[in-house]
Amino acid sequence: MPLTAHLNALGVNLTQLSERLPNDLTLSLTDGVLFLQDAQNPKLKACVDFLKGRLAYRSQQHINGENLVKACRIKGQNPVSVLDATCGFGKDAFLLSCAGFHVQATESHPVVYALLKDAILRMQQATGDTPFILHNAWAQSIALEPPAQVIYLDPMFPDRDKSAAVKKDMQLFHRLHSESAQEIEQLFSWAMSHARNKVVIKRPAKSKIVTPNPPTYQIKGKACRFDVYQRT
Ligand SMILES: C[S@@+](CC[C@H](N)C(=O)[O-])C[C@H]1O[C@@H](n2cnc3c(N)ncnc32)[C@H](O)[C@@H]1O
Repeated sequence: MPLTAHLNALGVNLTQLSERLPNDLTLSLTDGVLFLQDAQNPKLKACVDFLKGRLAYRSQQHINGENLVKACRIKGQNPVSVLDATCGFGKDAFLLSCAGFHVQATESHPVVYALLKDAILRMQQATGDTPFILHNAWAQSIALEPPAQVIYLDPMFPDRDKSAAVKKDMQLFHRLHSESAQEIEQLFSWAMSHARNKVVIKRPAKSKIVTPNPPTYQIKGKACRFDVYQRT
């Protein structure tokens, strides 16, 4: 199937997509898999895949020990509903769904949405399972009924690590965009007024708190931490 037909089948808005795809990146289709590719160096490419690789492995190993899962859990309640408002490549949404959370997710960037939707459809075809419900939208524009118990945020901070330690596929992703501090602040205050129980925000381990008030508690890992804001 040609690329355009494939993107149409994913429900992608082609005009928005071409407006948001930088000149130095391109999309390609190989064996039915959608890739984001460096335009000059086609070997540098990335796709979203929930079926194999490190993510599939992590989803089967000690999932309840993942700090993300601990941060989003609500004592005495199962399942818990989560809105992953900044879905990105869907790694966190996928882990939460594997841990038994009811996950809905929003992704505003049309290129990222296309890569994610492609992975979700491939997973559905291979296993019959849908990992999470994905909306191609700004989180602030959707109204879930009932509202999610937990809203999870992992915005792309401008200060995000650009070192060689960041995997090549993630470097491609970082070239698409980052959110401004003001956008992050607005998203956080929207989340605080829409989550039923709490807001969880992921931050690099040593970075400062990004909100006016300190979190209720933190769960710290080597590379990142989760700041948890309990609603009263
Ligand atoms: C750092 S990535 C998230 C990575 C993700 N946690 C993962 O596991 O792959 C942040 C994503 O949030 C999206 N985003 C930022 N603000 C948003 C908003 N207000 N609504 C929806 N998506 C948003 C960006 O387009 C970007 O793809």
